[in-house]
Amino acid sequence: MSETFAVGLLGHGTVGSAFRELVEGRAEQIERTTGLRPEISGVLTRSRGDFEDILARSDLIAELMGGIEPAREYVLRAMEAGKHVVTANKQLLSQHGEELYEAARTHGVQLRFEASVAGVVPAIRVIHETLAGAHVERVHGIVNGTTNFILTEMTRTGASYGDALAEAQRLGYAEADPSEDVNGKDAAAKMTILARLAFDVPVRLDDVPYEGIENITSEDIEYAKEFGLSLKLIGSAERIGEGISVQVYPAFLYEGHPLASVNGSFNAVTIESPAITEITLSGPGAGGSQTASAVLGDVVSAMIPPTSLPAPAQPLPVVADRESAFYIHLEVADRPGVLAQVAEVLGLQGVSIRSVVQKGLGEDARLSMVMHPVLESKFRAAVKLIGGLDFVRSKPRALHVVDEEFAE
Ligand SMILES: NC(=O)c1ccc[n+]([C@@H]2O[C@H](COP(=O)([O-])OP(=O)(O)OC[C@H]3O[C@@H](n4cnc5c(N)ncnc54)[C@H](OP(=O)(O)O)[C@@H]3O)[C@@H](O)[C@H]2O)c1
Repeated sequence: MSETFAVGLLGHGTVGSAFRELVEGRAEQIERTTGLRPEISGVLTRSRGDFEDILARSDLIAELMGGIEPAREYVLRAMEAGKHVVTANKQLLSQHGEELYEAARTHGVQLRFEASVAGVVPAIRVIHETLAGAHVERVHGIVNGTTNFILTEMTRTGASYGDALAEAQRLGYAEADPSEDVNGKDAAAKMTILARLAFDVPVRLDDVPYEGIENITSEDIEYAKEFGLSLKLIGSAERIGEGISVQVYPAFLYEGHPLASVNGSFNAVTIESPAITEITLSGPGAGGSQTASAVLGDVVSAMIPPTSLPAPAQPLPVVADRESAFYIHLEVADRPGVLAQVAEVLGLQGVSIRSVVQKGLGEDARLSMVMHPVLESKFRAAVKLIGGLDFVRSKPRALHVVDEEFAE
């Protein structure tokens, strides 16, 4: 009889049930490559299973419950008992990563979490293992499929934000309560995990400012189309001087940027390093069977010789103010001298204009402007002053612009 590798399954929802099916379907193939046959040793949900009993009968625990507690407690307990752990839980890793990595090191077990970021896109493996020899300078990601679907839908059909969100909910791309997706928090948790691995320093979710897509309007999308730009919710993690900056914000991307053409619910991650220039990975960012496939990939890796964990490290300072290009959209009274006054306020803050588009709307006009890269604090100060000018009709809207062209 062949030797088995017992997997205790915590959670039997969208991902857990797909994972169980996949294990059953792929067991023979995995046995041929590893010499071990994976088997589900027990399933825990709110209404069935006993954790300690499942743990005692497992070589590895697959945590597919989500949330912080009791997932954290179970994962720590499993590692303490000498069991490997695979998890898809971004909240847990972004808030308690250091504690969990330390526990895995102490107990000499593997902790794998590919499915916690960008579903089946192997961003974790590539950053942590494939690129272990490269000095990663920057990671840009579209790491939330719901928001990418909504922005794509707004671009494709001209729908408003509300209508595109309703469509995403109807098709199952957005939850009934989509707040953590649309406000950027989900993407911030994922960027926390990627930044930890890319820079090999502890990064806390609290260090990651995030902004979502709730205030994006059809006009912003129109502007993007007119100028051949794409509007995406971008997670950025970069080294700046002796520090790091990790943020999430909606941004315009120029055509040719590897993330500009990532549409629908797909996720993608671009990793930049002098040694490799850049690589981009893209694919489905969620879904039961897709995520389950990433989880099973981690289980198979844990069945064969161990790999390294993120090393203990000192934090780097978090850079609160960084340079970026920006777009600003203004509704103003259509009278002489308006543009000159806006330009003057920007100029006084050291913000220089790259392009301006003005459109008349009867008595009012709409100004859409893109700035050259400038410190964010200076730009925000200028926007505040502009918002107070008497000819400005509504609150100015400002967005980041990823001001780079990539060679094809
Ligand atoms: N869905 C995706 O596409 C996707 C993609 C990437 C990552 N993930 C991550 O994968 C994990 C699971 O997501 P999911 O969509 O499969 O969630 P789900 O459909 O809500 O399923 C959660 C499962 O965990 C069980 N559970 C929750 N709290 C529990 C507790 N306190 N004790 C015991 N069992 C408990 C639930 O039990 P009951 O059945 O009794 O309620 C259910 O079976 C999450 O960390 C999520 O962030 C999901």
